[in-house]
Amino acid sequence: MDAPLHTPLPGDANRFDTASAAQMERLVMDLRQMYHERNAALEEVAGAHHEALLRLALAADYRDTDTGVHIIRIGYLSEALALLLGLSAETATLLRKAAPMHDIGKIGVPDAVLKKPGPLDPGERQLMNRHAEIGAHILGRSRIPLFQMAAEVAQHHHERWDGRGYPAGLFGESIPITGRIVAVADYVDALTMDRVYRPAFSTAAALTMLASERGRSFDPRIVDAFLAHAPALVALRQSIDRSQHGALDSIAGAPLLDVRRFLVDFETDPARRAPLTNPAEAAS
Ligand SMILES: [Fe+2]
Repeated sequence: MDAPLHTPLPGDANRFDTASAAQMERLVMDLRQMYHERNAALEEVAGAHHEALLRLALAADYRDTDTGVHIIRIGYLSEALALLLGLSAETATLLRKAAPMHDIGKIGVPDAVLKKPGPLDPGERQLMNRHAEIGAHILGRSRIPLFQMAAEVAQHHHERWDGRGYPAGLFGESIPITGRIVAVADYVDALTMDRVYRPAFSTAAALTMLASERGRSFDPRIVDAFLAHAPALVALRQSIDRSQHGALDSIAGAPLLDVRRFLVDFETDPARRAPLTNPAEAAS
């Protein structure tokens, strides 16, 4: 029988194991550090990308509304609606960041159409309606969940519950929930702003108009949630207006306020709870 090529001496195996274990430990530490550095770099790139897109969205909003704060409010109102509808806190937070980019495609709509102080003719309407698809195209096909959601919102925020919206004429729950929520937040917020073609409606009038679009333009469940919590949502909107300084940073970074906390505090305050039974009258 052949002799083994190498006969380990007593203690050899232990020496080998100790050296390998130390080497393995160093390797694991190096990999951990590389993983952290890679994640930090990815976060930095995603953050810069997000800020650039927000600034583009702000540029589009300035052309349309001259304030820019409209898109910030829509972010917070959408987050609040998502929480009230029982969506996860993670989805609601993502929606606060994604919703402000919903009209980014208006950057591709001519001024003559965007700022026309009167009704649009069919050709102009067609140009205006293209902003949904232009927006989805600008936001692209990212692997990052925030930009995936932003593209989804841009694409679907003008679809209607009854299927008569655009660009695809989707119907009911075939419209992504993110698009359905932002559609409601956008509608109410825009109604209560001065526009080139009309003065602002009162909050009470806007809520009445919202109620009349229940099951037509908008998901009935989302309209019900808005009306049931209208005083809290109106107060949230006013809070955002008061803290609009640095508002853009609040979308890309730390929020202006904790929306969940705001809703809980508002609705557990007995002085404010009473108007919830009749939101349209209370929130004027
Ligand atoms: Fe839009």
